Amino acid sequence: MDVRHIPGRLSVTPLRFGHVPRNHRLPRFLTSPLCTVAAAANLRSKMGPSIPPTQNRMFFLGMGFVAQFFAQELKNLGWFVSGTCTSTLKKEGLEKNGYDIFLFDAHEPEQSTVEIMKHHTHLVVSIPPVVAVGDPMLQHEELLRSKLMGGNIRWLCYLSSTGVYGDCGGAWVDEDYPTKPASELAKLRLVAEKRWLKLGDDLGISAQVFRLGGIYGPGRSAVDTIIKQGALSEVQKMRGYRQYTSRIHVEDICQALKASINLPSLGKVYNIVDDDPSPRAEVFAYARDLVENRRPGWIKQTTVQPEFFVEKGSPRGEKRVSNARMKKELGVRLLHPSYRSGLQGIMNFMQHYETYES
Ligand SMILES: NC(=O)c1ccc[n+]([C@@H]2O[C@H](COP(=O)([O-])OP(=O)(O)OC[C@H]3O[C@@H](n4cnc5c(N)ncnc54)[C@H](OP(=O)(O)O)[C@@H]3O)[C@@H](O)[C@H]2O)c1
Repeated sequence: MDVRHIPGRLSVTPLRFGHVPRNHRLPRFLTSPLCTVAAAANLRSKMGPSIPPTQNRMFFLGMGFVAQFFAQELKNLGWFVSGTCTSTLKKEGLEKNGYDIFLFDAHEPEQSTVEIMKHHTHLVVSIPPVVAVGDPMLQHEELLRSKLMGGNIRWLCYLSSTGVYGDCGGAWVDEDYPTKPASELAKLRLVAEKRWLKLGDDLGISAQVFRLGGIYGPGRSAVDTIIKQGALSEVQKMRGYRQYTSRIHVEDICQALKASINLPSLGKVYNIVDDDPSPRAEVFAYARDLVENRRPGWIKQTTVQPEFFVEKGSPRGEKRVSNARMKKELGVRLLHPSYRSGLQGIMNFMQHYETYES
């Protein structure tokens, strides 16, 4: 099989974030002095002398896919960014990008890292729950509570999943729709959501939950899968049978995060999805056409057939997730309301950088 693949660095490079136009008016959350001089001095004493007292500081529990995109944007806009990961190699790579990174196992958290967290002004939690354990961070809830109490964090966002709704028989589902998580992981997610909101409440900070649809972006999309020609996992095959799958481009998650920082809301839950819940088969067929039309020859051998997805199967987890609250309350205007523009953007990005192996 002749496979041309995309270097891994695509997975952390934003599409169009990071550019601040000359006359761009900085959003309020970037200009307001959110922490005290004393707190900044405290952080400086722990983390180095170069942090201005009014600088916003983001801490990512888990520098994963979404976190790295958002981190890049915040850094370009002047934020101080810290976060955690679980491998030395990744830590070194992230540090080269200018972030303060801590090796961290949520099952056995370093007290010193939790201590440093409290000197940040904002916190995003992207570490997922673990089967038979639950949220690994919340196993240490008392440590978190005691260390973060009285600190500088004033905004927290827990990244959750639309999986908490379970199978809704194809209904449109807003944030008030009853949750019926089916899998153990989805049940643990729901518990984690409630506990992070409660912790935020106890700490007196603005905590919110983002229920994300299937996340895609450069390096992680149907286009990438087709170019890499990887065989589909059993889970991916099952998803293929669903009539509706909600998804969201990582750029739009970043937009929603920024909007939420600007408009903090205590204890709110938001669905973060695009306007176009569509069958996975449709998305893959579109991605395949896109690749073939734009770059004939990139796909030398077919292992992903669109027809494959329309075979019979159980309509697991069918629901159409509504993003009305995100638009109305956070004012988010989606850059990618449908997978079509999202995949086109990813394709443009690939073509622009022409970084393929021959
Ligand atoms: N993928 C989707 O389509 C989707 C859809 C809805 C919701 N979500 C959820 O949304 C959140 C953000 O998604 P994402 O795609 O950005 O996640 P991701 O790339 O999988 O990142 C997860 C992060 O959690 C860290 N982590 C995992 N287990 C850990 C542990 N035991 N101790 C410390 N750190 C740990 C990982 O560390 P390393 O950096 O060292 O790997 C990584 O930084 C995740 O919770 C994800 O499950 C994902």
